[in-house]
Amino acid sequence: MTAHSTPMLERHKKLERNVSLLGLFALVTVAIGGIVEIAPLFWIDNTIEKVKGVRPYTPLEQAGRNIFVREGCYVCHSQMIRPFRDEVERYGHYSLAAESMYDHPFQWGSKRTGPDLARVGGRYSDAWQVQHLKDPRSVVPESIMPGYAFLAKNELDAGDMKASLVALKDVGVPYTADDIAKANDDLKAQADPMSVPAELQKRYPKAQVRDFDGDPSRLTEMDALVAYLQVLGTMVDVNSAAAQEDLAKEKGR
Ligand code: HEC
Repeated sequence: MTAHSTPMLERHKKLERNVSLLGLFALVTVAIGGIVEIAPLFWIDNTIEKVKGVRPYTPLEQAGRNIFVREGCYVCHSQMIRPFRDEVERYGHYSLAAESMYDHPFQWGSKRTGPDLARVGGRYSDAWQVQHLKDPRSVVPESIMPGYAFLAKNELDAGDMKASLVALKDVGVPYTADDIAKANDDLKAQADPMSVPAELQKRYPKAQVRDFDGDPSRLTEMDALVAYLQVLGTMVDVNSAAAQEDLAKEKGR
């Protein structure tokens, strides 16, 4: 002990020599920092800024998404374009927080054996998607992606989409009572080339209504998965003036 130790240092020594006390004080200090950073997120309602165009998935898209998750597509594909020039040039406009706000669970992924899919919607025709999923090497000879031909054979057995939408609503996806009541009909209507799209599109703006798998007589897992792939990254019109304003706001936060 030196002669000039101040009382303050003496007290600090106690803390340094008692590991339980040091642990307790460290915990309290870190907890204060944590509370200051995290707690406000539970009260401010614009943690994720709303962006025009983002809507909940239709029942068919949601069913396709469930197949995407079931088949583990996320193991090889991310859905999150980072705001770097190389990514933006390759995959398109970087992803906005709002674009995955209704994703449960989110599909950002952490591995890119294949390309990012966040903006794959509309990049290829349905026929290309179907052919690629059935036999990837028939369209991309050097591909190492596995084939999923069985999706075109399997009838879509999505279960009760009403229950699915209710569950999503419970975690914050704003499905209306009407959306939920009509969920099972919507599922079929979106892939039926004979259906009248207006009603569905009123509740799900810009929903693409058509036969997706090339076999209008059947509703298959392929219909659902392609409907899902074709909507990815298309909800927000990232090039419109209004969207640019929203983007500027997002950036300015
Ligand atoms: C083992 C890894 C792997 C898995 C699993 C996988 N993919 Fe792929 N995927 C790739 C690779 C590699 C490519 C690039 C070559 C190609 O186009 O086939 C690719 C390409 C794609 C493309 C074209 C993307 C573009 O921008 O050109 C789509 C769409 C796609 N995959 C969808 C899926 C879906 C849907 C699933 C799940 C049913 C899936 N992939 C599972 C590896 C995988």
